[in-house]
Amino acid sequence: MSKDPAIQRMEKIVSLCKRRGFIFQSSEIYGGLNGFWDYGPLGVELKRNLKDFWWRRNVRERDDMVGMDGSIIMNRAVWKASGHEDTFSDPMVDCRSCKSRHRADQLPVKDGLKYCPNCGSRDLTEPRAFNLMFKSFAGPIESDENLVYLRPETAQAIFVQFKNVLETSRQKLPFGIAQIGKAFRNEINPRNYTFRSREFEQMEIEYFCRAEDGLRLTDYWLEERLRFYEDIGIPRSKIHVHDIPDDERAFYSKKTYDLEYEFPFGVSELEGIAYRTDYDLSRHIEHSGKPLEYFDEETKQKFVPHVVEPSAGVDRTALALLCEAFDEEIVVGENGKSETRTVLRFHPRMAPVKCGIFPLLKNKPELVAKAREIATALRPFMTVFYDEGGAIGRRYRRQDEAGTPFGVTVDFETIGENGPEKKDTVTLRHRDSMKQERVSIADLKGRLLEAIA
Ligand code: GAP
Repeated sequence: MSKDPAIQRMEKIVSLCKRRGFIFQSSEIYGGLNGFWDYGPLGVELKRNLKDFWWRRNVRERDDMVGMDGSIIMNRAVWKASGHEDTFSDPMVDCRSCKSRHRADQLPVKDGLKYCPNCGSRDLTEPRAFNLMFKSFAGPIESDENLVYLRPETAQAIFVQFKNVLETSRQKLPFGIAQIGKAFRNEINPRNYTFRSREFEQMEIEYFCRAEDGLRLTDYWLEERLRFYEDIGIPRSKIHVHDIPDDERAFYSKKTYDLEYEFPFGVSELEGIAYRTDYDLSRHIEHSGKPLEYFDEETKQKFVPHVVEPSAGVDRTALALLCEAFDEEIVVGENGKSETRTVLRFHPRMAPVKCGIFPLLKNKPELVAKAREIATALRPFMTVFYDEGGAIGRRYRRQDEAGTPFGVTVDFETIGENGPEKKDTVTLRHRDSMKQERVSIADLKGRLLEAIA
């Protein structure tokens, strides 16, 4: 039976990610660890580009946003106050036949009855709550007093530092605090590659405001975030905005949008934008006994700010970028025969490597020296990859697979062997169109910087 094309596509993406060094299974030589992943040389650049652009757009380019970097392990009291210790759980069931464990809300259903996706049995236990927070101990004694959790979200560090950040940054409402960092959830069933992992990174904003502005700002952030995805190469048409109905939202939220992307394995959540009212700060005021209110100089009023939270996943967005970029096309190869070209059509801003640099022949010292000189000159400004091995067509294909948007070839014209007109010019190849143009070396940096800004 032929496989579903979407499944085939996902398999190809996973295989490319391994083959080209985007994503590896964590601890692979020891059999891996379910729900944990390592990013290789290309993957780490992709994630860095994503995080840097998010930070630039949301923090550096705005005067109403500041950043912070909280610790992963915090006082356990934080998680009691936030409600995570009591309620951050998923319903878990065991299959009595094959002993596998599953999330009750993700079980497949046939004829109105849930069954085990592993063995098909319907002999399942009743669901019971399983808390997703990883536990550890701070200090040498494994006692209840020393119990700590690895944070399951970055957001709480922002709430508990609200007063310190407000006082030191002297912001006025509305303003936001942004953070990027690791989060950990002991997911019952990690799945869909990196989509649901046990260790992942979040990019979160807590945007504090007056109560009367909460709903309007939630819609404002929805637009902002859609614009962001567009600017990294994920078109609006591929993002589904799910306006969560009243009866499915957290009780304290007055509005929540889920932004979902059309992954090959189905439309799934990339980001949540939640208007959380004053719930979080109020809980921390109640539990810590500390005043976390905002004092309005103009009206002389003191009140607890409300908050809008756009919360995105780095790993899920990186996976969406890979899925969106992956393409295969039939092209005519150097030998005149048709072949399949695999290409990652990343937006140049997100591409792990911006430019491949190739001397036409590796045994011509002048070509090699010139190509190395160009690579050295570009390196402080962007990630480049110098490659002198193999036929030039093959070197282009390798960069196509890595998603490198530009290729620069240093040939005999560059070194003036065919006359002075084209001396100090190179061939600039465009990944998507495969078109080539002649560009002077002096213009190269400016051209590339403009494209990747
Ligand atoms: N502070 C709000 C919060 O954490 P969430 O919807 O639970 O909300 C926000 O998580 C985002 O974090 C998700 O939209 C997703 O992108 C990412 N995320 C959550 N759980 C994840 C997991 N197990 N693996 C990868 N990413 C995850």
